[in-house]
Amino acid sequence: MLSHIKDVVNLSKKKGFAVGAFNVHGLESILGVANGLTRSKSPGIIQVSEGAIKYMGLKPLIHLVSTVAKNIAPNVPIALHLDHGKSLGNVLGCIEAGFSSVHIDASHLPLDENIALTKQVVEIARRKNVWVQGEVGAIIGGHGDLGGVIKDIPIADIDEVVEFVKKTKVDTIAAAIGTAHGVYDNEDINIKLLKEIKKRTNNKTFVLHGGSGVDPRKIRRAIREGVNIINIGSDIKIAFSQTLIANCLKNQKETDPRNLMGPTITAVEEVVIKATKLFGSYNSLKFKEIIT
Ligand code: G3H
Ligand code: ZN
Repeated sequence: MLSHIKDVVNLSKKKGFAVGAFNVHGLESILGVANGLTRSKSPGIIQVSEGAIKYMGLKPLIHLVSTVAKNIAPNVPIALHLDHGKSLGNVLGCIEAGFSSVHIDASHLPLDENIALTKQVVEIARRKNVWVQGEVGAIIGGHGDLGGVIKDIPIADIDEVVEFVKKTKVDTIAAAIGTAHGVYDNEDINIKLLKEIKKRTNNKTFVLHGGSGVDPRKIRRAIREGVNIINIGSDIKIAFSQTLIANCLKNQKETDPRNLMGPTITAVEEVVIKATKLFGSYNSLKFKEIIT
């Protein structure tokens, strides 16, 4: 069922796991995430980038996610979130359209401008009961990148993170702590910085970006130290694309798109199940506890 992100995050805090936030790109990946969460008996977040909105259209996307959440995953709370909203127009559009959470990513701007823009979004979102995620210390890389080593992964400045959270009053905070978008061999999680952020922001809900390709032991440790939401984008793109390519190559005479696309749903489903097991949310819902 479609739920507010607040309910999903509250459940995770109560039970001590991290919620997976999964990037979707079309009907097949939406079905894959919904099926994966249902099979995992786990709450989760479906998130869309500005690129996904451009591809599908905002209205079709909302209707697809709501209908799939209601009919395919009636027993698991699923929140809809805008990921890396860089344009104010898109962010406001999602707030208006009924997302329960938006990410205003102004991390490329100087701190004072990032704070001013994020604050503006928070003020508007509050009136609509929508959560806002802010970002300080941009997370680098490219969604879907599969690439050995990435150079110079930046780390956020702790004082900037604290000032940002205090001045903007965001609901959730994303900051560069060693991961990158994509799958690389040298991704890390700076636990010392994470602990400091949690301590100095009064345990603000922390979103780990760049969840694909990170050593599972580091993910587990980070959850123990207070990571609340973990974004998974590239793992989904890669599983989807590799499955589709292999299936098309194997069945070059196939004319039914459903036979070509169908296996991508299961591939995404498997990524979600693996993630919920790692994040500790697998089997976390007793169906009688589910929020209505
Ligand atoms: O915003 C989306 C994520 O941070 C995804 O990162 O592609 O490394 O999984 P990832
Ligand atoms: Zn990200």
